[in-house]
Amino acid sequence: MEKIVIKNLTKEYIDNGRVFRALDNVSLAVQDGEFVSIIGSSGCGKSTLLSIVEGINTATEGAVYIDGKKTEEAGLDRGVVFQQYSLFPWMTARKNVRLGIKQRFADMDKKEQYRIADEFLKKVGLASAKDKYPMQMSGGQRQRVAIARALAMDTDILLMDEPFGAIDTKNRADLQQLLLDLWEGDKDGKRKTILFVTHDIDEAIILSDRIIMMQPDPGHIYREVTVPFVRPRSREKLVGSKEYNRFRNELVSLFYARISENLSDDSEL
Ligand SMILES: Nc1ncnc2c1ncn2[C@@H]1O[C@H](COP(=O)(O)OP(=O)(O)O)[C@@H](O)[C@H]1O
Ligand SMILES: [Mg+2]
Repeated sequence: MEKIVIKNLTKEYIDNGRVFRALDNVSLAVQDGEFVSIIGSSGCGKSTLLSIVEGINTATEGAVYIDGKKTEEAGLDRGVVFQQYSLFPWMTARKNVRLGIKQRFADMDKKEQYRIADEFLKKVGLASAKDKYPMQMSGGQRQRVAIARALAMDTDILLMDEPFGAIDTKNRADLQQLLLDLWEGDKDGKRKTILFVTHDIDEAIILSDRIIMMQPDPGHIYREVTVPFVRPRSREKLVGSKEYNRFRNELVSLFYARISENLSDDSEL
């Protein structure tokens, strides 16, 4: 079943009185329970696309459908995790997570909200740090809180915009595995539908079922690739394997071949 359908999306920004086309006729269908990554160089419109799916930005043309229904605004059916830290600095990790739960399940008993917050903080490895404030935590820990909050809100859809972009290599690897474990092992075998933006090819391969490649000027999808590796995945085993490296090389050449093709187009002008 199709969970998210993006149909002929075009987005133009007016910048200093000039029209700038950030997205050009982008169409994409994401299946229920699918993990789809969008990769592309900076400025190709990834964040613009995600913000329109989230409902905090509007398309110039085209539309986004969730469960077959056209989206008009942001909704609590879509959880988000962004690169920039979105935690409230004056609240502890536990209160930040609980706030998300409270927003989504306003009628739920307060004690139950805190119980769920604790459960998810434990899942992301922060049981002993739950009373810390964002300022007292590392970047990796803060993103763990953001992930705990998004998962605790239990939305069908998760939108993630370079959530590990500011994290160092070791912590980034750990967070990728954590996300894999939590998503693959979701209860009742009902996985969330994830749309994940990154510019890291390895991250896209490790996490996704399918990778969508975008190019700028104006932002458009030019290629999509299905990732052949079985789940559950172990990042460490996967990255060391011959199959992984063969697939990665193919993807890299696809990616850069297209960029140099574009450059040579330009040089003829
Ligand atoms: N609010 C805005 N006003 C004008 N231009 C914008 C705005 N937001 C993004 N852009 C432009 O749209 C293009 C795509 O931006 P963005 O979606 O952030 O790309 P990405 O996330 O792939 O780096 C960029 O050239 C950016 O400068
Ligand atoms: Mg971006």
